[in-house]
Amino acid sequence: MNNFHSLVQNKNNSQAHTNDQISFIVNSYLQNKISDSEMTKWLKAVYENGMNITETVFYTNSIIQSGQRIVFDNIDGFIIDKHSTGGVGDKVSLILGPILAACGCYVPMIVGRHLGHTGGTLDKLESIPGYDGLISSKRFKQIVKDVGISIIGQTDEICPADRKIYMLRGKTDTVASFPLICGSIMGKKIAEGIQGLVLDIKIGNGAFIKDAKEANKLGQLLATIGSNFNVEVNYINSDMNQPLGKYSGLLCEIIESMEALQGRGDDDLMKVVFTLGELALNMANQNSPTDKMKKVISDGSAFEIFKKMVRSHGGNLNKVKLSYKNYIDIFSDKDCILSYNTKKLGDAINFITILNGDIDNNAGMQFYKKNGDYLKKGDKICRVFGDELKNIEVASAMISPLFNKC
Ligand code: URA
Repeated sequence: MNNFHSLVQNKNNSQAHTNDQISFIVNSYLQNKISDSEMTKWLKAVYENGMNITETVFYTNSIIQSGQRIVFDNIDGFIIDKHSTGGVGDKVSLILGPILAACGCYVPMIVGRHLGHTGGTLDKLESIPGYDGLISSKRFKQIVKDVGISIIGQTDEICPADRKIYMLRGKTDTVASFPLICGSIMGKKIAEGIQGLVLDIKIGNGAFIKDAKEANKLGQLLATIGSNFNVEVNYINSDMNQPLGKYSGLLCEIIESMEALQGRGDDDLMKVVFTLGELALNMANQNSPTDKMKKVISDGSAFEIFKKMVRSHGGNLNKVKLSYKNYIDIFSDKDCILSYNTKKLGDAINFITILNGDIDNNAGMQFYKKNGDYLKKGDKICRVFGDELKNIEVASAMISPLFNKC
């Protein structure tokens, strides 16, 4: 007979859990038999003391088992997905997903909302008027088959345990734990029914992982978990010491992604897209991956797939227009070399877009400079924008001091 409190105590004493104990914890929380504050104690115990590989496999399995595991039959292409460990301005999924589908792959993509200071692909997609990211798994499968890609969040049917635990981790500072990240990412990805997965492990002051050694450790753990469930996993490490691309926020990132799909993406953004895409298309046994990706951008087919996917989810791109009512520009107050504090930018962006109580789809930041740029006193560094002036003022006050020290 399992007792939740003694299991927390065991974990605080660094004892390993059994499969049965982990599914008891996950299911009890999902069924509201244990409260948020009790579950937080377990999350903190895991955050402090870790879980070994066997426990991480059990934990991932219990996330998958909390809902359905999709099976695609009679499909004539490689079923693949991409995921990142989280960043600021990271819109790569919105660009690479349609590109892979235009190259003949099938992309069933389950994504998350904002987590800690990082942005969430689902939040960004939901800024498109009408976009429904919580459709049934039957409809999800159908859109993947018909369009080549569908992007949804965790639902009652697929990975409900990740949806609940993910939200709690975000509120309790228990995100940056390898076994919890593994269970969350691999649970969603395995439940989607994919054959292969490419991962973008972000490193830097805007990421949950701070150096390459840790990133490789996490990458290997994610690949090991994948192989336990017959999913091939490959990964890259990429820089998250500054926001990716020009914008970070909600609608502004959708618009930037659509620009990128029409061949107008920033170099730093497209470098990550093409590096991950090459890895993905190699896995799918396709030749000349970069040429293929460039072709589906230049002939418009990747953008067509993006539009078709949005329409299939009820979204109306005709209504997508960035029309913020207020903005504050931030200027350098001295001559210096720029170096972003990306986590603090991410906190401020999540505050103006989502965390002040109301969702402001028009809110975000635009960045005019990159790390290492030489700034002269008075140079514009970034613009903070949105509908609510008071939120913009709070966010500007949060980030302005960062640039006084550049
Ligand atoms: N992305 C996820 O889906 N889960 C995590 O825990 C971190 C990033």
